[in-house]
Order: sequence, then structure tokens, then C-alpha cells
Amino acid sequence: MNGVVVVHAGAGTWRFFNRDEVTKVIKSSLRAGIEALKRGGTALDAVVNATIVLEDSGILNAGLGSVVDALGRLTMDAGVMDGYTGRAGAVAAVTYPKNPVVLARKVMELTDHIILSGSGADELAFRLNLPKHPGPTERVLKLYKEYVSKADPTSVRFAKNVKIAKELGMLDTVGAVALDNDGRLAAAVSTGGIILKFPGRVGDSAIPGAGFYADRYGAAVATGVGETIMMSLLTYRAVQLIKEGYTAITAAKMALQFHTSLFGKDTAGLIIVDRSGTPYGAYNTQAMPWGYIRVDMEEPYISGFPETT
Ligand code: GLY
Repeated sequence: MNGVVVVHAGAGTWRFFNRDEVTKVIKSSLRAGIEALKRGGTALDAVVNATIVLEDSGILNAGLGSVVDALGRLTMDAGVMDGYTGRAGAVAAVTYPKNPVVLARKVMELTDHIILSGSGADELAFRLNLPKHPGPTERVLKLYKEYVSKADPTSVRFAKNVKIAKELGMLDTVGAVALDNDGRLAAAVSTGGIILKFPGRVGDSAIPGAGFYADRYGAAVATGVGETIMMSLLTYRAVQLIKEGYTAITAAKMALQFHTSLFGKDTAGLIIVDRSGTPYGAYNTQAMPWGYIRVDMEEPYISGFPETT
């Protein structure tokens, strides 16, 4: 079996980002994932390590770079799933941990629960002595100040805020999927959610089957407008299609096509890998930087930037 790690930096317009900077982060993330596999780690180790690098970059909408809600506060969602054991763990609306993906893994491994939210999840992070988040970056606070007056302050439908997020290209949830050398599959996802979201809002990244899913056939993570991904069950749908016999490439395209038929363009993207190790990234947005690396590859494959950058 030839291990492979796939990561993405989020679906969106990617108009205001430095391509070299984002490419560097994706490559570092892929290397962190593949190094875990080379050391004999599991697919779960690989996706968590890869996602930590994306969270720590500070330039993507997850971990250190997470965007803020309508009150200017950070609340992050993350999830992991181990396709081999069929177990999942997730955190919703957490504020404490620097790396929500690590906390999601702890929920899966240390508790009998699947999703912990808000203060309870933060309490677990505190008790486990996980590194604390330092708060929103200057870039995020600047965006908040600039756009908060244009946001819809009351509507939980927040269509106007999603429009702002799309304009800003801020749908950049991050994630990773992997197949390890023993044939196990795993998925991990992390996000600050939609910028200017109503406080307390939870997106797809905390919901197994929506933002992330893995079994013995495939693993997928999604990015985009969580309210649409939760209703199309995008990652579960894609992995089910693999189980029905489609390749990862066809499964991703079919699942996204179904999603787009329900919710239109500019709403979602996903990365996927099947048990043969075929990786793929599909999106209905202008861009979704993603890449993959196999154990035997020197340089990763990178794709998904908008043509104009
Ligand atoms: N896909 C991330 C979110 O909607 O929160």
C-alpha cells in the first residue's frame, strides 16, 4: 500500500491571497502529513498533523487565522474521523484551543461522545492543558472592523454575511484526508466558520457526514457554506458513491454536482481519497487550493488556484 495525504486550504475566490505564501503552507502541511506516515503513523496521525500546520499558518480560516463572528469573537469548529475504527470526534464553537483539530481528536479518543460544544469543549481543552489560542489576528480584526457595519446583525439566515464572506474569499475552511500504508483512511477538518456569523452558529465542520467523513472505502472533507453542506451531507454522499463502486474522482464530481443542483455555484468544495489511494479535489467556487503527496513522491502536486493570481 502506498500512503497518500491530500489537503486543501478552502474554497473561495482567493482573490486577495499571495499564491506563493499559500502554496508554501500547503506544501508544509503535506510534508507534515506524509512524514507521519513515513514514521509508521496512521492515516489519523497524518491528517491531524497536516491540519495543525494549516491551523498554525495564521493566513487561513482555521486555528490561528480563524475569522470572527458578528460580535468580533472567535468560535471555531473542527472534526476528525478514523475510517478504520469508524469513530469520530468533533468540537463546535470553541474559543480556547489554538488547534481545535487536536481537541476534536481528544473528544474521539478520550470521551464517549462525538461532539462537544462551547464552554464544555473549552473546559476539556483547558483540563488537557492544550495550547491556548492567542485571539484573532490583526488581519482578521481589520476585516471585521471594515465589514461589520455592512453585515446583517440579526438574521440567522445571514445571506448578506455569506455574500460578504464570498466577496472576501473567506470560505477557507481547511482539511486533510489520508490513506496510510496499512490501508486505513482518515479525515480531519478545521474552521473559524463564516465571517460575521451569528454568535453560536455551528457549521458543517463539526458534523460527521457533512464536513468530514471516513470509512474503509474512502475519506472526504468539505469546505464552503456549512448550511448547504449540512443539508447535502456532502462528504457522506461522496464516500457512499465510492462504496457503490465509483472512483474517488467520479464520486467527488457526482456528489458536488448533486450539491450544486440543490444550492447553486459558489457554495462548496471537497477533497477525497479512496482505498486505492486515488486523490481528488472538486469545487464549484472560483478556486480551492489543494494538493497531495504520496510516500514515494519527492514533490507534492498542487492545484486549484484561480487563474488570475
Ligand atoms: N464550512 C465551514 C463553515 O461553514 O463553517
